[in-house]
Amino acid sequence: MEKTLVLIKPGGVARNLIGVISQRIESRGLSITAMKLINAERSTVEKHYAEHASRPFFGEVCDYLTSGPVLAMVVSGTNAVKAIRATMGATNPLDASPGTIRGDFALSIEDNLVHSSADLEAAQNEIALWFPEGIVKN
Ligand code: PPS
Repeated sequence: MEKTLVLIKPGGVARNLIGVISQRIESRGLSITAMKLINAERSTVEKHYAEHASRPFFGEVCDYLTSGPVLAMVVSGTNAVKAIRATMGATNPLDASPGTIRGDFALSIEDNLVHSSADLEAAQNEIALWFPEGIVKN
């Protein structure tokens, strides 16, 4: 059993895709074990993307994540980290296969709708960052 962090970014929330995206996650056989809609603090987003701080898009991606509400969730299940990334599709929606969330609903990397943790270590750190209060269900 693994836990991973998923964010529905402001573009996905603004387009009312919370239901569709959550349904795909649950249909895959994964469980949503924590969920909250928040206006993310800039400091949280900067920590979240800290490993990309020197990349040219760092400011832009932080602006995007603080441009409106974000739906943060913890997704749990067997091989959840890898399974959820496959369900989301390639980071750049232009490379994402049809049938994936990004392949079906997104067109640009600047607005790729969702985030999920890259590996188990990142998942642990990101869950602690976005859910410092802890989660109800393990
Ligand atoms: S990955 O999946 O981590 O290997 O992807 P990577 O290409 O390294 O990108 C890391 C995150 O930065 C986002 N990104 C961008 N945002 C805005 N503009 C541009 N040009 C851009 N390039 C990359 C990308 O969506 C990744 O964020 P997440 O939240 O993981 O999707």
